[in-house]
Amino acid sequence: MVTTSSRSAGPRAQPAASAQAGLLEAVPFACALFSAGGALLAGNARYREEFGELAEHAQREALLALLHAGGEDEAREVRAPHSGRWYALHWGRAEHQGAPAQVLTAIDISERIETLDSHKTRQEKLLFTSRLMSVGEMAATLAHELNQPLAAIMNYLNGSLRLVEQAGGPVQVERALQAARTQAEHASAVIARVREFVRAREPRRDAHDLGQIAATVLELLRLEAERLQLRIDLGLPAQLAPVFADRVMIEQVLLNLVKNAIEAMRDIPTARRELRIDARMNLDEQIEVRVSDRGAGLSPAEQDQLFSPFFTTKTDGLGIGLAICRSIVEYHQGRLFFEPREGGGSVFGFTLPRYEARA
Ligand SMILES: Nc1ncnc2c1ncn2[C@@H]1O[C@H](COP(=O)(O)OP(=O)(O)OP(=O)(O)O)[C@@H](O)[C@H]1O
Ligand SMILES: [Mg+2]
Repeated sequence: MVTTSSRSAGPRAQPAASAQAGLLEAVPFACALFSAGGALLAGNARYREEFGELAEHAQREALLALLHAGGEDEAREVRAPHSGRWYALHWGRAEHQGAPAQVLTAIDISERIETLDSHKTRQEKLLFTSRLMSVGEMAATLAHELNQPLAAIMNYLNGSLRLVEQAGGPVQVERALQAARTQAEHASAVIARVREFVRAREPRRDAHDLGQIAATVLELLRLEAERLQLRIDLGLPAQLAPVFADRVMIEQVLLNLVKNAIEAMRDIPTARRELRIDARMNLDEQIEVRVSDRGAGLSPAEQDQLFSPFFTTKTDGLGIGLAICRSIVEYHQGRLFFEPREGGGSVFGFTLPRYEARA
């Protein structure tokens, strides 16, 4: 039974008076006694510390309304708006000077909630990765199905070319056939890469030279860059330490970033279309890669959503490029970042561990 002198009731929680002061103070979390009418009779130091600054702390109904906590029969988990901390609220019945009263306990459960939250984000990430895996499987099927007809097309084209060469022309037909063969070869190369990518889905990390990775990526985007008359400058030191990474995955990251950079410069004057890829060792002794463009850059609102899956401002975009980049970079214990480029445009960069410093 809890009894208290009526002097301790007041608009601000007073230290619990007399006998039950010790009782309330002994409770290791925020604890307060309310009259049947809902007025605060006493609160322990923890209660005053955590809720004392709220005007509502001395009135049960006001406090419950503020915390969106419902009636006192319910045990609830609530977030205190003034501190952002989470509490498990519990009401117990007591008696105060022969009249019914209620004891509120508020246990701080912020840590548990945070752990749960981080679990959830991890799960969402996993789910996202597994979706990407299904995309990979779909790509594998497609690659397999397309491979056969493509091989046949190449055969027909080679046969026709031989016939035209033997017949000595016409030269326009010969050129057209050669152009068709180049395109078919390109398509085969793309498919071969898709198959390699899918096969390499189990990441294999090793020592890799960023120069080679950049060369592969630029080769894939050469046609597109030429079409847009875009200048590409490479700033890769010759002595750059090798990174500890899965080559195909990092190619994928760089490809996405360079593609975005190219796409960002579609609508600016040709003379300004300039793309840079730089790499260096940063102060943390990680390798940092930066892709810079002269596009329109990003508004603050766009920056906030940048890495969320399915955020896109393009009519032909899926909005998964950067989300994939981030998953891959984080898998490598690196960081993907954006910053505005001096003189206009954007810089997208990422860090990777050096092979020598691998964990
Ligand atoms: N270099 C850049 N300059 C300006 N905006 C960019 C740049 N890179 C990305 N963005 C913005 O971020 C959005 C998301 O990019 P992300 O690569 O994830 O998707 P996307 O390019 O739209 O589609 P896709 O899935 O085909 O890559 C883009 O739609 C664009 O608005
Ligand atoms: Mg993209």
